[in-house]
Amino acid sequence: MGQPNTDPSFPGLSPRVLGTLSEVSGLSLESPSLPVPPAVLDGVRRLSAQFNRGEGLGNRPYLNEAAFRTAYLSYFVPVNLVKVQILLNEAKPAIGALHGRSLRILDVGGGPGTGALAILDWLQRLAGDGPTALEYTVIDHSREALEVHERVWRGYRAHGPAQEPQRLQTVECDLEKGLPSIIQAARGRPTHDLIIVQNLLSELYRNEADRIEKRVLLLERLLGGLAVDGTIIIIEPALRGASRDLHGLRDRLLQQGSATVYSPCLHSHPCPALVKPDDWCHEERGWVRPKWIEQVDRAVGFIKDALKFSYVILRRDGKTLVPRSPDLHRVVSELRVMKGEKRVWWCDETGRPEVGRLDREQSATNAVFDAWHRGAIVRVSEIVRKDRKGRPGTVGRIPSSATVEIVRPA
Ligand SMILES: C[S@@+](CC[C@H](N)C(=O)[O-])C[C@H]1O[C@@H](n2cnc3c(N)ncnc32)[C@H](O)[C@@H]1O
Repeated sequence: MGQPNTDPSFPGLSPRVLGTLSEVSGLSLESPSLPVPPAVLDGVRRLSAQFNRGEGLGNRPYLNEAAFRTAYLSYFVPVNLVKVQILLNEAKPAIGALHGRSLRILDVGGGPGTGALAILDWLQRLAGDGPTALEYTVIDHSREALEVHERVWRGYRAHGPAQEPQRLQTVECDLEKGLPSIIQAARGRPTHDLIIVQNLLSELYRNEADRIEKRVLLLERLLGGLAVDGTIIIIEPALRGASRDLHGLRDRLLQQGSATVYSPCLHSHPCPALVKPDDWCHEERGWVRPKWIEQVDRAVGFIKDALKFSYVILRRDGKTLVPRSPDLHRVVSELRVMKGEKRVWWCDETGRPEVGRLDREQSATNAVFDAWHRGAIVRVSEIVRKDRKGRPGTVGRIPSSATVEIVRPA
């Protein structure tokens, strides 16, 4: 992931998004030639410590602080909104054609407008194939963040024509105390075509032993308001604890029959990453890192050259990203180069086994193995498990005679 990607179809930020963020933050994100203000760097460092290690988290919404809002808007929003767009592209086959439909979206813990900007810009790219109208509702407990959200919404619209009538509704509410009455009133009446829950769950009930149960309850209430053919995108930080909590939440919702999993999982069995205490599943996707982010990264010592996150896309209608099949597997690690072989961990309905190919077994039919990457959906015609002392070996080996495919790259 070290080399900058210059492929124009690669995920990245549009000039209109960068222009909007520059205007609302008062910073120059489009062509940063000036040093990043120290207050912004300090805000990014402090927010990061808070997100990664829970440092300095008080009871007061942190986005009520102006310095945090500016840091969040200029650094975390650009990074996070591309993640939403990547997953919108992934969910698009299930969402179906938007032309002639009106789209109702709920953004839960939407902060200063990450999801909204992602959606507005994604719809813009659909050109004439977008919906006839867009209704966007955002819930957050920070009034100040919601005010910025409104400015971001207006700012994006001011930068170019909208293809459909659009309405934004902001709702201030502490989600730990329950859903706002406006959403409660709609319960049982499936309303939303899309619900985005990004980087919120790990901030809810964070020190409580029954946090997963409480989050499940919230998700069930949200699912109650999801259209029968609607989609929920849940994104969490690529941290072991947050990701494992998300796996647990997914398991509970599937067990209870409250939702079906569209992606990333290729099965509905309990998540095999939860079997061992140290395992977890996350994504690493390439993107075109804007110069501004590069500049902040250099100054604070971060590397956002790839987008890392954990996610699950849920629906109620059983649709899946790829048809369920025992022949398909999802790569859930990097391709690990070892002495005399390469290996990956993959996930399928049998669990999370390790699979490898000895260098001496490389052949024309299995050469694609070298291109396997985290998140790819793959197929192999043949796996050999050598018996060791009467028991099958733990590592499945791809022989030279096997045919290897990438059915869907990440
Ligand atoms: C890390 S930010 C995520 C913002 C945006 N979704 C994104 O991914 O960039 C978490 C958001 O959740 C909101 N939040 C945290 N706890 C909340 C609560 N109890 N009720 C409502 N909103 C909450 C915060 O104010 C903040 O806007």
